[in-house]
Amino acid sequence: MKTLAASPDNIARAAAHLRGGGLVAFPTETVYGLGADATNALAVASVFDVKSRPLFNPLIVHVPDLAQAEKLAEFSPGAYSLAEKFWPGALTLVLPRRAGSGVADLVPAGLGTIALRAPRHPLAQALLRESGCPIAAPSANRSGGISPTLAQHVEEDFAGEEGLILDGGPSEVGLESTVVGWNGKRPVLLRSGALTREELEQALGARLDQAGSAEAPVSPGQLESHYAPRASLRLDAQEAKDGEALLGFGPDIVGAHYNLSPAGDLIEAAANLYAALRLLDATGVRTIAVAPIPDRGLGEAINDRLRRAAAPRR
Ligand code: TXA
Ligand code: MG
Repeated sequence: MKTLAASPDNIARAAAHLRGGGLVAFPTETVYGLGADATNALAVASVFDVKSRPLFNPLIVHVPDLAQAEKLAEFSPGAYSLAEKFWPGALTLVLPRRAGSGVADLVPAGLGTIALRAPRHPLAQALLRESGCPIAAPSANRSGGISPTLAQHVEEDFAGEEGLILDGGPSEVGLESTVVGWNGKRPVLLRSGALTREELEQALGARLDQAGSAEAPVSPGQLESHYAPRASLRLDAQEAKDGEALLGFGPDIVGAHYNLSPAGDLIEAAANLYAALRLLDATGVRTIAVAPIPDRGLGEAINDRLRRAAAPRR
């Protein structure tokens, strides 16, 4: 793929490429997405193809704002309240599809629902407005691998593929959006992410059911080993054994090859996580040992990703 610096000309070029059915990787505040015109079935099919993504795993559709989102899905009062509070931002809502919206059937993988997100990143906003089409975009990595937080990560994963990359520098948050759906009237956390459970529950005035619990079904993309480097992961490690690289967190860990946040700040750790995994993986170590990370705030999503990265591989 070809990387373009952020400029009005390049945004216009990327928007035209999208409208013509091409792929454009673009920054969001969470991670980089691999975008296609959501109304173009062939373009959407090429996203699945390039990523080697299973066709049962639906894509998120990106829109500039709530007004555009309402054309694609049916909003309940709860959905309105979250969108009004957290959009544009790191929240994805899974809602009933609106008939005749023009979104290709491949996008929601045959489900009656559709996942929508209005990202906050100015380049993502500019691309959405300039192209005038809803953009279907999964994270811009090969299926099962580590999500990209730099344009360079996308280049590495998709060297030799066709398409453009808009370079917006490092993704500020570094973890994917939080995915929320509904089971009847009950809100369900389908994927933990950049927006914390605490923030969402406060806005909803209700507890979020956990996907996969008795009350709530699982999101199709959440079943498998995911976010995985080449190396295997050993979690809750206090030190590196022979031949391991140690990924540390906080002031007390000794001998870390990389410390996600020496100060013990979960926001800093989230921003560093994926680049750190790529860096340690590139050294060729067989195992990355990971220090314990507290499960509060963004720690819930960090630990979710680490558990999936450590899961047995496909
Ligand atoms: O931060 C993010 O969310 C990034 C940026 C690019 O927006 N995107 C991203 O996309 O992480 P992806 O494809 O890697 O993850 C999308 C998740 C998957 O777990 C998928 O199964 C779930 O959203 N999803 C999409 N549509 C769904 C639907 N209709 N019902 C349930 N889950 C859905
Ligand atoms: Mg992904």
